[in-house]
Amino acid sequence: MFSQEEGQELVFRKNIKEAAERIRNTKAVVLTGSGISVASGIMPFRGKGGLWEKYDPEEMASIHTFRRNPRAAWVMHKEIYDVVKEALPNPAHLSLARMEAMGYISSIITQNVDGLHQKAGSKTVIEFHGNIIKLICLDCSKLYPAVEIDLGSLPPLCPACKGVLKPDAVFFGEPIPREALDRSQEEVQQCQVMLVVGTSAVVEPVASLPRLAKNRGADIIEINPQPSQLTSSVTTLFLQGKAEEVLPKVLEELN
Ligand code: OAD
Repeated sequence: MFSQEEGQELVFRKNIKEAAERIRNTKAVVLTGSGISVASGIMPFRGKGGLWEKYDPEEMASIHTFRRNPRAAWVMHKEIYDVVKEALPNPAHLSLARMEAMGYISSIITQNVDGLHQKAGSKTVIEFHGNIIKLICLDCSKLYPAVEIDLGSLPPLCPACKGVLKPDAVFFGEPIPREALDRSQEEVQQCQVMLVVGTSAVVEPVASLPRLAKNRGADIIEINPQPSQLTSSVTTLFLQGKAEEVLPKVLEELN
């Protein structure tokens, strides 16, 4: 007889094998959220220790508040940027990059603004919510790599026109970049397997992508230490665990 723990381990290993089997037969589309970057030292938005426990999203990540008082909003964004610029990809990002190189992944749609998929070597990354590695001028729309801008006095100003610079991430009240939206929908409509990693899937329109894939007949494989609102509705196979532990196991199985 197996103990309860041994039984759970067996089910987990069976699920890893099954996930690898489904991915092996096709090219998966991956959707990632902030949970995948937790092991890189970047805090998620929701839940215990999340950013929205410390800051009010309406206050700090709304374009309307930003325009009214960019200095106040920049205090939070500078804090995030200082962490992100030093952060390194973790085994979850690296496993996905390897899986793409092996031909098992067609694209990664990410809600993250940290650039860690690219740092890990992933090539086809669709940044659904933009990124904070670049800054955009609210007046002339010129883009600058954040490393080139002095963040010593806030808000930073555009070297060309002295307009206020904003992280090039999507704030509440701003539209999703058209190209990211179109490419994501195209990818999702064509995929047979969607791998959903480390997202609570509560922010629209990105949260609807797994449902769209499911309605087109795709399998949804979800990796998260906690069930999300997708788990009991659209998820086909739930791999309960941390992305940085589960994805290397899936990769090992594919190898
Ligand atoms: P959330 O903070 O809402 O969700 C993070 C998810 O990651 C949760 O479901 C956690 O259980 C899970 N998680 C935590 N640690 C993990 C780990 N080690 N491995 C895997 N999963 C883990 O973050 P998002 O879903 O990314 O939007 O949030 C979506 C959007 O809400 C963000 O893009 C941002 C935010 O408001 C904007 O700013 C427009």
